[in-house]
Amino acid sequence: MRIDTTLIPSSSPLQDLVSQSVLVIDVLRATSVMVQALSSGVKEIIPVTTVEEAFQLAKSFPLETRLLGGERESLKVAGFDLGNSPREYIAARVKGKTLVLTTTNGTKAFHAVSSGKTILVGSFLNVSAVAQRCLHQGADVLLYGSGDEGGLSLEDTVCGGMIIDRLIHLGKPPIELTDASQMALIAYQRFQRDLMEVLRLSRRGRILIELGLGEDLPFCAQTDTTVIVPMFKDGVVRI
Ligand code: MLT
Repeated sequence: MRIDTTLIPSSSPLQDLVSQSVLVIDVLRATSVMVQALSSGVKEIIPVTTVEEAFQLAKSFPLETRLLGGERESLKVAGFDLGNSPREYIAARVKGKTLVLTTTNGTKAFHAVSSGKTILVGSFLNVSAVAQRCLHQGADVLLYGSGDEGGLSLEDTVCGGMIIDRLIHLGKPPIELTDASQMALIAYQRFQRDLMEVLRLSRRGRILIELGLGEDLPFCAQTDTTVIVPMFKDGVVRI
């Protein structure tokens, strides 16, 4: 099995991923929100790239069956039901609903990798389950960090490294790591004893703390709170 890692998100859709299991990661906070929302009983999530698209698409669902969620500059968009804090996505609020979600980096990432054989949603919350699923699929793996406004995101890199660590321990050799994957693994090894340290150090983490959303950091730093592995297929994320 070959494991590659995209440390810096691509500005155009990636081609030629048909033989790879792609794992999209946006720890702060899009993929953590997706995992949490589906764990709380959301029926499905439709990730879209723009706020306009989100409003437009929401109109095609009866009001009582859908929710609009996401952020711009990390804050809830005016007119949306929910922001992008995983703490908001509790069963009483979201169970059984279709969630139309738009975020700055995370939801775009799904459209960049839509040529993947399978496209899975990864976060610390489901880190071991997602690694197990990749092993079960047996295909080469691409860990796709959603990044931060076109640049590298430290917390996505460390989460990718943790998944690589799990794959190495659970999988059968030979496992081939690209240089980018080696780098993600080294980053994980640096922070493995205290994942909160990496979230506090990261640019997005510091922005969230400044905005008074610092409680999202310990939430997103939890590991293995669920065994669900959401999958993006035909434009929709479901369990
Ligand atoms: C994103 O997709 O860019 C993020 O999830 C940003 C955030 O939640 O603040």
